[in-house]
Amino acid sequence: MDFQLKTLSIAQAASEKCDVLIVLAGAGNTPSKDAISTLVAEARKAGDLGDKAGKLLALYRSAGIAAPRVLLVSAGDGKPASVRSSVLAALGAARSSDPKRVVIVAALGIDAAGLRSAVIAAADASYVYTTTKSKPEPRSIRQLSFGVPDAAPLREAFGEAVATVAGIELAKEWANRPGNHCTPTMLAEAARELAELPGVKCEVLGPKDVEKLGMGAFRAVAQGSAEPLRFVVLRYQGGPKEQAPVVLVGKGITFDTGGVSLKPAAEMDEMKFDMCGAASVLGVFRALGDIRPALNVVGLIPTCENMNDGRAIKPGDVITSMSGQTIEILNTDAEGRLILCDALSYAKRFGPAAVVDIATLTGACVVALGGVRSGLFSTDDALADALLAAGESSQDRCWRMPLDEDYAEGLKTNFADVANVAGRAGGAVTAAKFLQRFAGDFPWAHLDIAGTAWKSGSAKGATGRPVGLLLSYLLARAGQGAAEAAPHKVRKPSKTKQAA
Ligand code: BES
Ligand code: MN
Ligand code: ZN
Repeated sequence: MDFQLKTLSIAQAASEKCDVLIVLAGAGNTPSKDAISTLVAEARKAGDLGDKAGKLLALYRSAGIAAPRVLLVSAGDGKPASVRSSVLAALGAARSSDPKRVVIVAALGIDAAGLRSAVIAAADASYVYTTTKSKPEPRSIRQLSFGVPDAAPLREAFGEAVATVAGIELAKEWANRPGNHCTPTMLAEAARELAELPGVKCEVLGPKDVEKLGMGAFRAVAQGSAEPLRFVVLRYQGGPKEQAPVVLVGKGITFDTGGVSLKPAAEMDEMKFDMCGAASVLGVFRALGDIRPALNVVGLIPTCENMNDGRAIKPGDVITSMSGQTIEILNTDAEGRLILCDALSYAKRFGPAAVVDIATLTGACVVALGGVRSGLFSTDDALADALLAAGESSQDRCWRMPLDEDYAEGLKTNFADVANVAGRAGGAVTAAKFLQRFAGDFPWAHLDIAGTAWKSGSAKGATGRPVGLLLSYLLARAGQGAAEAAPHKVRKPSKTKQAA
């Protein structure tokens, strides 16, 4: 889809030629006499366009407006979250008329955050998966223009938002593909293609390399599958070579049967989404290549299937991880932590500034937080705060969970250094406690996205989360880095008296 940003006053928007004109109306409306402003003012006065974001009013062939269909939509308080719900509601309604050209115009003050939110919501609302359909219905909207009173100061934010959309859509694409169209080999190939972007490099390791590295936990999960494992190393260099990178680690189980500890049949198809962590790393790199921020990022993706086979791991098996720690596998369905623990050990070689792993790790996290917030676990308060803030600003929210040592009690076993599962209670936390043993001394965070990475039911499909959160975190970090790297200026004594 072609996104455009243009300077367009409300008065000018009335003569825009398009199939649907969407007018975001909010409290910050400046009263004026043009056709659209008059409509908005009258609708508000009559109470037909309340303060609740997403309230719609559909008009047809309205006098003085070129577009045949006009949707007035309340943007509530005008905050990014309200802008998001209003754009989702409007494009949801616009869909029924199969529009090709849509213009969204803001009849309220819209800032960078609001615009970002509008662009990402518009992409979400109009996304369609087509890859494995024989007669794909193409995305009906070809061109989506955003009209704002002055485009110039919003150009940069708009560019970032469009790049974020490309990242989110790449993540959705790979996550939505069924397991036979998204094998570890294919996923690694998708990563390799990202190396065409400026500043991005990719290296793909296979079973022999992984064996040499001593990644016994990762290998153990892969050994029950006919598909060979892959270990992807992506690098984005936007900062000085010596700058410590942020390392992102994404769980890439392309299908999780549970292994010998087999999952129930109902909804097992959804376990094709068990590589959403990996897909989010691909999405982030796609966007980094476009945005080119000044920082260094490494992406690690351990990817394999978790299958049932004569060679598959069995409950009770003890394996040796790359860290040297032995692990008793009490449940072969707790495979995510096994592939991640070796990737976390591998991460140390980059001398990372921070390590963030992203995984559809536990059903328990779905029970705890549902599909609204991802679970955030971190040993580092500054990193946790930065990720929480990034979640809020991108509306891709997370919620901090505990890591008390008491939770690790259940991972004790008589037969190895650690067991791969504890009891049912606090399952999301005990999984995080397992990972923590492998995270080393670097600031580390774990995002459990089991509830947020995809939707079930009739809207079944990947959400592209947490690409928005991760990019927001990385871009904020790059912004700070740039400020720190700037030459130190000697401050002139200020004329105005400053508060102490
Ligand atoms: N991929 C699943 C986690 C999952 C389950 C994500 C449901 C989304 C929805 C993971 O590999 C898994 O099977 N975890 C087990 C762990 C248990 C055996 C301790 C779980 O959550 O049931
Ligand atoms: Mn599993
Ligand atoms: Zn899994």
